[in-house]
Amino acid sequence: METRIFSKKDIEEAAQILKAGGLVAFPTETVYGLGGNGLDKEAARKIYAAKGRPSDNPLILHVSKMEEVYPLVESVPEKAKRLMESFWPGPLTLILKKSKIVPLESTGGLDTVALRCPDNGVTLELIERAGLPVAGPSANLSGSPSPTEASHVYHDLAGRIEGILDDGAVGIGVESTILDMSTDRPTLLRPGAITLEDLTEVLGEKPEIDPTLLGKKMEDGFIPKAPGMKYRHYAPKAEMILFITSTVRKACDISFCSLEKKESERRESEDKTSEKKRSEDRISEGKEYEYKVSKRIEEYLEEESKGFPREKIAILCAEETKHFYQEMAEKEGIILKVLGRRDEPLSMTHNLFRILRECDEEGIELILSEGYSEEGIGFALMNRMKKAAGQKIIAV
Ligand code: TXA
Ligand code: MG
Repeated sequence: METRIFSKKDIEEAAQILKAGGLVAFPTETVYGLGGNGLDKEAARKIYAAKGRPSDNPLILHVSKMEEVYPLVESVPEKAKRLMESFWPGPLTLILKKSKIVPLESTGGLDTVALRCPDNGVTLELIERAGLPVAGPSANLSGSPSPTEASHVYHDLAGRIEGILDDGAVGIGVESTILDMSTDRPTLLRPGAITLEDLTEVLGEKPEIDPTLLGKKMEDGFIPKAPGMKYRHYAPKAEMILFITSTVRKACDISFCSLEKKESERRESEDKTSEKKRSEDRISEGKEYEYKVSKRIEEYLEEESKGFPREKIAILCAEETKHFYQEMAEKEGIILKVLGRRDEPLSMTHNLFRILRECDEEGIELILSEGYSEEGIGFALMNRMKKAAGQKIIAV
C-alpha cells in the first residue's frame, strides 16, 4: 500500500479514509498518533497489525470536544468533568468505564476506555469531519520511540497505513498524562505534561500513583495498570545508562535500582555517613552535582575502554552542562547530544525521542546520559528516559 502524505488542505480526504475503515496518522501536541475508527473492530485489528503491537494493549479514543465523550462511557464523574474542563484540549487522557458501543477490540478487552481531546487544530478538524472517536496509539512501530515528526511515522509505518497528516514537529514530545478515573481514587498511570501538581490543584487531592512509576518492579509482582507501560518502550537500539545523583533522587522520592551492586553499596555507605553532605549538595544544586555526574561518566568511560570498548558512544547532556564533556568528547571521538536546557524541561521532552531515533540512525552502541529532576514535567521526562535505559541506572 502506498502511504500518502496529507497536509491541512487534505483534511477532508483523510477524514473519508477514516470513515471508510482505513488508517491515517495524525499530529497532536504530544506525539503523532495512528488513527482509525475507534468504534470499528476491524480498524482496531488493522492498527495492532500496522504497529506490530500486542492486542491486549488498549487504544486511546480521541474526541474533538467533551460532549463526544458521553456516548462512549457509562457516566462522567464530576471530578472527571472538572479535569476535562480545565485541561482539554490538552495532554491529559482519562480512563472511564466504557459504554456498550465501544468494542472490546479497542480497549484490549477491558471494561474501561481511555479518552483524550488533543490540542492540535488540524486533528480536531479531522475528528470532527470524520464524525467518529479516533482510536490512536502512538504512530511508531511497537518498541521504538514515539514519533514526534511526520518523517518518523513514515520511517516506521510507510506501506502499512493509508496516509499521514503532516503538521510539522510536535510541541511537547512525550505522550499524554494518563489518569484512571474509573477507580475510587484517581490514579496516575503515566506521567505527562499535565503534571501531578496540575492534577492535584483541580482535584483538590493528590492522585494515587501507580507503584511501578515509583520504581516498584514487575519482578516483585507490581504490574503497571496501563498495559502499555509494561513493555520495554521508547527504546533505542543502543544500550543506554542513566547517571543520577542522590540530590535528584531525593527531590523526587523515588526508589532506584542500580546497575552494579557495588554502586548500591557505595550509595548505602554514603547515605549513612553523609546526611550533612547531601544537604550541602542540595544547596549547591546546579553546579556541584552536575560536575559529579560528569566525573562519574568520565570514570565509567575509562572502565569501559578497558573491557569491551564500543566504537560509537554518545553522551546525552544539558545545554548548561555540555562544557563538562566537550574536551573529553573531542579527544575520545564521543558524540555529544544536547537534550535541551535543564532549566526548561519542556525543551528536553521536546527533543528526547528525536534524539533517540538519531542515535539509532547513527549506529550508536552506547548512550551515557545525565538524569534530571523529577519535579513537574521532569517526572514524565525521567519516566521515558528510564524506560529507554531499560531501568539501567547508576547512582552517583
Ligand atoms: O499522547 C498520547 O497519549 C498519544 C497521542 C497519539 O494521543 N497516544 C499514545 O497512545 O501515547 P499509546 O497507545 O501509545 O499509549 C496509550 C497508553 C498505553 O500504555 C495503554 O496501555 C494505556 O494508554 N491505556 C489505554 N486504555 C487504557 C485503559 N482502559 N486502562 C488502562 N490503560 C489504558
Ligand atoms: Mg505508544
